[in-house]
Amino acid sequence: MSNNKPSKKPLNPNFSSGPCAKRPGWNISVLKKTPIGRSHRSKECKEKLNEVIVKSKKILNLPNSYVLAIMPGSNTGALESALWSLLGFKGVDVLAWENFGKDWAIDVLDQLKIKDVNSYVAEYGDLPDLKKINFKNDVIFTWNGTTSGVRVPNAEWIPNDREGLTICDATSAIFAMDIDFEKLDVITWSWQKVLGGEAAHGMLALSPRAIKRLETYTPEWPIPKLFRLSNKKKVLKGVFEGSTINTPSMICVEDVLDSLKWVESIGGANEIIKKSNKNLQIVSDWVNKSNWAEFMCNESTTRSSTSITLKIKDVWFNKFPEEEQKNLIKKMVSSLNKEGVANDINGYPKAPPSLRLWGGGTVQNTDMEILLPWIDWAYEDMKQNV
Ligand SMILES: Cc1ncc(COP(=O)(O)O)c(C=O)c1O
Repeated sequence: MSNNKPSKKPLNPNFSSGPCAKRPGWNISVLKKTPIGRSHRSKECKEKLNEVIVKSKKILNLPNSYVLAIMPGSNTGALESALWSLLGFKGVDVLAWENFGKDWAIDVLDQLKIKDVNSYVAEYGDLPDLKKINFKNDVIFTWNGTTSGVRVPNAEWIPNDREGLTICDATSAIFAMDIDFEKLDVITWSWQKVLGGEAAHGMLALSPRAIKRLETYTPEWPIPKLFRLSNKKKVLKGVFEGSTINTPSMICVEDVLDSLKWVESIGGANEIIKKSNKNLQIVSDWVNKSNWAEFMCNESTTRSSTSITLKIKDVWFNKFPEEEQKNLIKKMVSSLNKEGVANDINGYPKAPPSLRLWGGGTVQNTDMEILLPWIDWAYEDMKQNV
């Protein structure tokens, strides 16, 4: 069978699920106004740190009563500081349907050793049953499972009158999906995902109920300085105004400010969300016609528009053992990389054999359209050369 190689290549071959593609038009000169070599406690730097907080809140339309901090250690740092600072007051319900949710379950069960825990674990491609969650407990979940391409459909399953706190890892969802923030008491994300910023720093938003927990409860375990949000039940207010716990990178700060300004320039959160939805639509149209690829997530209402994850349904491919399937996918990914068409689109190492295309709003819709015929080409090429 002939296998015509497409000729047009994406303008930006970066489809990685993190760190993700820079915004269209980004170049290194956006960093030239960085106050390099200055103290992060100086007026100039503090203003920039505070600007990140103020702009993020405004673009996302976070409720006024929520506070927002820049945290060390990217999304993991932000989320674990919330777990270490807030948990232990109540029982915990933890949901996991891919690698990252499983990591948070390990924190709860093996590290913090919380006694009263319900964990709900689903296989790659599925969601746990959201109807079973006990909202008398604190509830921990990931809005979008980056390694399986499955997200929660919305926040309707979370009651307004919950007793526990809802703690949400939103890193690969925020700025790409509609999120009802009022249903979430803790929201974390990093700069390196949908915004295409640099890694290293995370964001932590807290609702008034989460702040109240900090003001009224001290966990029995030690809390490293890096995670500390309060001191003797007094919230460290400065942390939520740009006085970071430890030293941030002002280059990263300058870079994320550039991303946030870009989001504003294209029309705000709704516009960047639209770009991501369109990327999913483009891939869905292609999957519908494909004789070899399918989504890992079967249910369209819970399908991710950012970490778009594909399985191979071709009977020929599925005759191979899993290890060999992974090798065959590696061949495809490597030829696309060599062609300068797509970088880093292999599925997550611990996930079943898969391809993963980042569809967040820094990936141009035209680039997604151009990429797909190349993936068809790479599949056929791999098949012909086994
Ligand atoms: C859902 C989710 N949680 C946590 C992480 C870890 O984030 P970071 O490396 O920014 O700390 C990632 C990164 O891919 C993720 O996708």
